[in-house]
Amino acid sequence: MFKVFATRNIPKEGLELLKPRCEIEVNESGRSLTKQELLEKIKDKDACITQLTDKVDKNFFEAGQNLKIVANYAVGFDNIDLNEATKRSIFVTNTPDVLTQATAELAWALLFACSRKIVEADKFTRAGLYKGWDLYLFLGLDISNKTLGIIGAGRIGQAFAKMSKGFKINILYTANSKKSDFEEQTGAKFVDLNTLLKESDFVSIHAPLTPHTYHLIGKNELSLMKKTAVLINTSRGAVIDEQALIESLENKQIYAAGLDVYEREPIIEKGLKELDNVILLPHIGSATYKTRIDMSILAVQNILDYLDGRIPRTLVNK
Ligand code: DGY
Repeated sequence: MFKVFATRNIPKEGLELLKPRCEIEVNESGRSLTKQELLEKIKDKDACITQLTDKVDKNFFEAGQNLKIVANYAVGFDNIDLNEATKRSIFVTNTPDVLTQATAELAWALLFACSRKIVEADKFTRAGLYKGWDLYLFLGLDISNKTLGIIGAGRIGQAFAKMSKGFKINILYTANSKKSDFEEQTGAKFVDLNTLLKESDFVSIHAPLTPHTYHLIGKNELSLMKKTAVLINTSRGAVIDEQALIESLENKQIYAAGLDVYEREPIIEKGLKELDNVILLPHIGSATYKTRIDMSILAVQNILDYLDGRIPRTLVNK
């Protein structure tokens, strides 16, 4: 029977679909496996459902000699050596679309929270410091009638931009290419990165991590941003040079940052934790009940596609 290994216990809705046709082994430990444990587990498997925390590299493929497909339980696949998979004719799939809205919504949650100091204000109130209405208490930024800069206008970037309807927001974006439909729907303007950074009040990153986007936002880029600007990142931490961001936040070169992702997850730099103009979340972009179930079903559908002799529906190494 076709053997599948799931490196974490993904929602049962997906695994149930596999049961009639596969022998399934699941890591039920509630933690990510060590590299050695993972290599041991995939030795005899035909398919593996991986997490973004699993390093799917040359060693992984060498250990998994029977592997036909790796279904990554994430839209991002920077944890996977795609060339190595392709060289060995192993399919790699991801979970796009189903997590688009949830991730875009979280980016908005960060944008609101940073602009209106929601986290600080909550801490203040809990600490018993609220002594009555005060006209200078937690003044923040307006969101309406501002300029939103979107770095990476793929599915999530576009969804994020569309959610601004109602705030009378002006949209700028950078992407690999101009997106005419998106422009027609939102009035968004395609600009170069420097223009976007200079003119935006809110900058939100939705680009995948690739060699091209690694440290895309560094010291120079941050220095172009407005002193009143807010930077949001829900994509991958290493798109920003974290040390440069810490300096920029320390020096109040920008107003605030809202981060869901970090350069060296799960390590959060001490410098970041000490700042009060940054909101730090533990990579929860797609963390809604429904989204996580839908991701599970989609990851599994890709394996079923393979079993049915079809090209997996969300193949990334075409
Ligand atoms: C993804 O799917 O890439 C997200 O980062 C997971 O939440």
